[in-house]
Amino acid sequence: GESWGSYRLLNLERGYNERQTSRAYLDVTKKGDLNSIQWYNLATGAVGQSAANTSKPVATGANGTVNVQIYYSGVDHKDLALASGQLGSEYVNKVFGFDYGGRRVDTGARVMGISGGKSIATSIEANDRVLIPVPDNWSIEDGVSAISAYFAVWYSLINRAQIEGGETILIHSGTDSTGLAAIQVAKGLSCRVLTTASTSEKRQFLTDTYGIPLDCIYDPNDPSISDQILAATDGTGVDAVLNALSGEKLTLAAEVLGQYGRWVDLDNYDNSNQARLSSAGTKNTLYYNISTIISDETFDIFLPKLIQSFTKWFTDGLQNGSIKPLPRVVYGYDVVERAFKQLSSGQTIGKVLVKVREEEPFNKITTDIKAVDIVANTRSWFDANKVYVLVGGLGGLGLEVAYWLVARGARKLVCVSRSGIKNDYQYVFVKRVETEATGGVGEPAQVKISTSDPSSIAGAEKLIAEAQSMGPLGGIFHFATVLADAFIGDQTAATFRKVCAPKVDALGYLDAVCRKFCPDMDYFVAFSSQSSGRGFVGQNNYGYANAVMERICERRQRDGLPGLAIQYGPIGDVGLWAANDNIDLTSIGMVINTQRIPSCLEVMDRFLSCGDAVVSTIVRREGAEQSGGSAAGAKSTVWHGIGIDMSSLPDDLTLGDVGMESILAVEMQQRIDREYSVSLTTDNIKLITIRMIKDFQNSDQKTVSAQIAEFKKSLKK
Ligand SMILES: NC(=O)c1ccc[n+]([C@@H]2O[C@H](COP(=O)([O-])OP(=O)(O)OC[C@H]3O[C@@H](n4cnc5c(N)ncnc54)[C@H](OP(=O)(O)O)[C@@H]3O)[C@@H](O)[C@H]2O)c1
Repeated sequence: GESWGSYRLLNLERGYNERQTSRAYLDVTKKGDLNSIQWYNLATGAVGQSAANTSKPVATGANGTVNVQIYYSGVDHKDLALASGQLGSEYVNKVFGFDYGGRRVDTGARVMGISGGKSIATSIEANDRVLIPVPDNWSIEDGVSAISAYFAVWYSLINRAQIEGGETILIHSGTDSTGLAAIQVAKGLSCRVLTTASTSEKRQFLTDTYGIPLDCIYDPNDPSISDQILAATDGTGVDAVLNALSGEKLTLAAEVLGQYGRWVDLDNYDNSNQARLSSAGTKNTLYYNISTIISDETFDIFLPKLIQSFTKWFTDGLQNGSIKPLPRVVYGYDVVERAFKQLSSGQTIGKVLVKVREEEPFNKITTDIKAVDIVANTRSWFDANKVYVLVGGLGGLGLEVAYWLVARGARKLVCVSRSGIKNDYQYVFVKRVETEATGGVGEPAQVKISTSDPSSIAGAEKLIAEAQSMGPLGGIFHFATVLADAFIGDQTAATFRKVCAPKVDALGYLDAVCRKFCPDMDYFVAFSSQSSGRGFVGQNNYGYANAVMERICERRQRDGLPGLAIQYGPIGDVGLWAANDNIDLTSIGMVINTQRIPSCLEVMDRFLSCGDAVVSTIVRREGAEQSGGSAAGAKSTVWHGIGIDMSSLPDDLTLGDVGMESILAVEMQQRIDREYSVSLTTDNIKLITIRMIKDFQNSDQKTVSAQIAEFKKSLKK
């Protein structure tokens, strides 16, 4: 053209992928980092398609589901375990949420329910048969304070352990919501209740509010607790133990369980108590671990039947007065991370709730439910019925993205390669994409390997036709690349052609073919490079090819079609760069670090909804000049959030000595890693002393980094 211009890198605005929405759910971006808990848009959306923020929910959905607008959601120990990343790979795709209460959109009736996840949210599509009416004289808040606790107690103590009047029941963690519900139920049955509580305030509360004599409430941290319980039962032990997972130390030994006793674990994910129990030599005992009854598989078959029996029992309990709402601490949706910290502190009496919206005047039945406005991140989801084509999909990044697409809902992929699978790594990875990536949800994924080469128009047409034979095209993700690096004087037309073919030609032809045959697809994503954005020694042809791909994406966006080019910097784990692990980035003038795959995927997720055509991501090297002078001297906030009153404690005490929760240690671990670039184990963190923390609080970041590194070294010795 006639006009001149320039390309510049501009910072994306903070919150660029946030949208105001009335439909959101809570999740954690980075497992193990409580600070990364965020609201996400419940609506799914692709580039250029604004996520459906305003659409009214449909009252009834497929397979007998009903839309429930949520007013309150419970925060449970399982959510904490999910947030901390403590659960196994089968939980990777699980989202927070277990219990909730709100209104049915179809009738306006107030209901409460148990969910398999995604219910710390503004709404949920619930199975009609697992909804329980909120009692007439209870608020929805009352209902959510109680529903999961009573359900757990009914299932564990009544349905499974079959406790009876006159038996002695040991209820661990007596002041958490399940403990309190269990105490009420056991007392209602005229059982003798023994319980545990870790502080004198909690013990006093149990005495004052629930009438448990102080000598029946034990300190779980007291090493002689088993002896005390055996003494209190004349050496025979208790008839049943309810051993809820809690932040408190589990010091209860198996010998407290008497002959014919029943031991019930709630949410114990490692089954270690079962082994303890069998090695204790107690006779004729039964062990139940009921953490797994709520799963995607059991939800529709098993739960409705259970809920039916539970509802009858619950209604009887309301009438005879043994079931009452539970104490709770309530946080608004705008301070939701505080709800998680509250639960992880181990200081809560009763339930922790998130309030999503205000309940209308008591007991009114209405379908006119007020919308809430939540600032939420947009997260990409992919359609199980659509086909996603990954050109170069058997390469390093391509396989990782294939896995991620399936984890986010896609089930039909076409991976394009010149030769097909040629090594074990690709073979095994594709198998993982087909099965493991689904997280057990829905059908296994289909991964078709295609050798149609889109760097000719005939090849591109053939490829798209192949993909469309599997279903409508959902998107193209383009990774194909070959390198021919050399200084410009050594480059030839042939080396340029070689590098441009899989990028410029292939993307250009795919653009043309898709415009013709599938203009409605949702994604068209090209993986570009910093070689285009910033330049890289010897990569003139590669930089050029990437720049042309970016222009193709820009032109698509101008034409109202999806188009996104992402300039990555060097990726650390797989692909082109990872093979060159001997290159020191600083020696070639780059003050950046390699980007790890989880981070590449996380930013890609955000970029997919940002609306720009060309975006760039790099990981700045810690301490490099770009970070600015002031940040280095700034004091850290790491040490202020640990909720320990330092002034009252002796300097030599360690965080382990003061009973630091594991979950908090995991959080500290993340923060220390992030702020000081030192990776400590959670056990290391528990060895940090009060004196060290006092020092850290008064020192600048650089000094603390050095001190922590020194501390780590000293542990190794
Ligand atoms: N890795 C990084 O550090 C990094 C950094 C910045 C940008 N990127 C960009 O990210 C994308 C993926 O990079 P990567 O690291 O995953 O590279 P990679 O591991 O080398 O994978 C690229 C794949 O492209 C395939 N390919 C080449 N020509 C093809 C053609 N004509 N048709 C179909 N497939 C073809 C090759 O597979 P076959 O041999 O099986 O055909 C190869 O496995 C590239 O676009 C790259 O520019 C990567």
